[in-house]
Amino acid sequence: MTNSASKATPTSASAISVRASAAHRPVSPLLFGLFYEDINLSSDGGLNANLVNNHSFEGVYLDPKHKELRALAMRTPTTKHFDRARHWETSGPAAKLSVLGTDAVASHGHYGRLTGGSGATLTNHGYPGDAGPSVAVRAGVNLRFTALARGPQGGSRCHVVLLAGDGNLVAEADFTVPAGDQWTQVVAELSPTRTVRASLQLVLPDGGTLDLDEVRLIPEDHWGAGDPRWSQGLFRRDLVEALRDLAPRFMRFPGGCIVEGLTLENAYDWKASVGPLAERRPNYNLWGMHRPDGDYSQSLQIGFYEYFLLCEDLGMEPMPVVSAGLACQFRSREVTPVDGADFSKVVQDTLDLIDWATGDPATNAWAAKRAAGGHPEPFRLNLLGIGNENHGPVYLERFERIRAAVDAHHPGLTIIMSSGTAPAGKAFDQSWAHARTCGDAKTVVDEHFYKSPAWFIDQVNRYDDYPRGGAQVFMGEYAAHVPTLPIPRRLRLPANTIKSAIAEAAFLTGVERNADVVAMTSYAPLLNHLESELWQHNLIDFDGFTVTPTANAAVQKLFATTLGERIVDLDGELPAGVFASASRSDDRLCVHLVNTTTIPQDVTLTVDLPLHGAGSATVLAAPHGIQPSRRMGSRERAKLLEDHLALAVHDGAVSLTLRPQSVSALEFGLASVS
Ligand code: AHR
Repeated sequence: MTNSASKATPTSASAISVRASAAHRPVSPLLFGLFYEDINLSSDGGLNANLVNNHSFEGVYLDPKHKELRALAMRTPTTKHFDRARHWETSGPAAKLSVLGTDAVASHGHYGRLTGGSGATLTNHGYPGDAGPSVAVRAGVNLRFTALARGPQGGSRCHVVLLAGDGNLVAEADFTVPAGDQWTQVVAELSPTRTVRASLQLVLPDGGTLDLDEVRLIPEDHWGAGDPRWSQGLFRRDLVEALRDLAPRFMRFPGGCIVEGLTLENAYDWKASVGPLAERRPNYNLWGMHRPDGDYSQSLQIGFYEYFLLCEDLGMEPMPVVSAGLACQFRSREVTPVDGADFSKVVQDTLDLIDWATGDPATNAWAAKRAAGGHPEPFRLNLLGIGNENHGPVYLERFERIRAAVDAHHPGLTIIMSSGTAPAGKAFDQSWAHARTCGDAKTVVDEHFYKSPAWFIDQVNRYDDYPRGGAQVFMGEYAAHVPTLPIPRRLRLPANTIKSAIAEAAFLTGVERNADVVAMTSYAPLLNHLESELWQHNLIDFDGFTVTPTANAAVQKLFATTLGERIVDLDGELPAGVFASASRSDDRLCVHLVNTTTIPQDVTLTVDLPLHGAGSATVLAAPHGIQPSRRMGSRERAKLLEDHLALAVHDGAVSLTLRPQSVSALEFGLASVS
């Protein structure tokens, strides 16, 4: 590497030359991406536009016994716990909710029956569900209530109400259900008059019996409204727009640990997540172990169909991750024997996923299911992950078998291999040693690191000496913080601090400098409902009404939106604690400068190509006087202030003062093409 500028030495010299004329190494077109896992209520309660909690009376949660045994949890086999009436409350004369149905039907087997006298009421508070009325209702944004309904003991009238926490009515509408055993789709339009947390209430003014299933309450401004492709699950618009703002090139999905499952039975089943909503089979979410009563279900209203559509809409390359036939090795010892029918199913499920996404509906039954949803054209599919944080020989053997089947069935996919939970050590070395034997750039090794800000700064040069020409790197999960996995509130460490965001920016200069071997990166976790009380340090916070990108998200966005196509080397020396990287396209040069110190730093850049006009800089800087690692409240996060500056160029040189604790993205037009 010729870029000594980033290897800062304690010296007063601060002049660097930008060798834009000799930029040959390509920047990976997949920098930067997203990792979306259903953690922190990011699906149900988050991206899922349906505001009803346990909408189909199929509620399935983590067995509460697991929680009691949590100290031993890492080795405790766990089973599903059905609690089909959870999140539904009754009130009024003789009101009663029964959940009826059968397990014999693999999906959509159960429904709710409300009986009672005049005024019998069924209430749902939405998400998170343990904090009273939580359905986010906004004045002027209509909501559409729909359900499957029937009146088995005579026709019934139903009054649909949105009731604010203060007891006042926010919106109301009615529907009627004909008598009989036939299910019909009922619709009621609600026009809220206030912006408020509310509850959904279904009231029987005349009493009687009402059967209900597939209850949905969807704001009219959801993503994809009016688009026939969006025929099943729907996304909340403001959250999708926040993802789009990060300019992502790919999205990894569905995890994370939920790919593997707490047990093999709990592993994410993509087949249960596509097709008509009413036929999807929910599962409990293993992150429920950190929620009251294990209260975290995966309704799968957001499944693989919606994920591929989202990738299409935001121009992201899909990167589905499939099970390697191993439960989460951190929590379980469950392993699928490679010679049995269960492992054949693991392999076949992977091949079927590829067929579902890319096959011809005329000849392939899985592709026909995709087409039936509203997408007859194949989806893009070039990337596939096998396993999450799995490791060791037990993983590598399964990885190779699955990969061989995929290569035979669908050659040309880039395959992502796990290297375990840590960016060093035995498991990590085993994966890399194995990947090196693959000898081609169609293998990408997934590295995960949740480490301190100091570690990130120390590792800025991590990838400088990674061999080129073979397997590439995917930083599939990373964030600069001491792990903030759910722990008692009093022990929690500061999350999303300025210090973490600046340390990540410094590290990203090393990624950019090595963007020919670091093919992909995705921050983790992505989304966090502020009332979920789960993982503390995330990229974007939200609640029912607000979406708040963190300081860390601002850094991600800045790097993603100021990136060229070829790596530009830098020569010279920077002050200790200052880091730099650069890239260019034919007509644009981008330079990133990160000052991790608490004092201003002067830098002069000299560019070896003629520049076109003045330059500009976008600067993210710590607010004056803020403690970089300041502990914030549970909802409050430190912010970086954004500023835009014009940069004067004199004889190809630019001088500027880097603010303390800041990230600067400089952009220049290039006058000539070389
Ligand atoms: O990002 C949260 C979790 O951290 C992921 O599910 C897992 O892969 C990692 O341990």
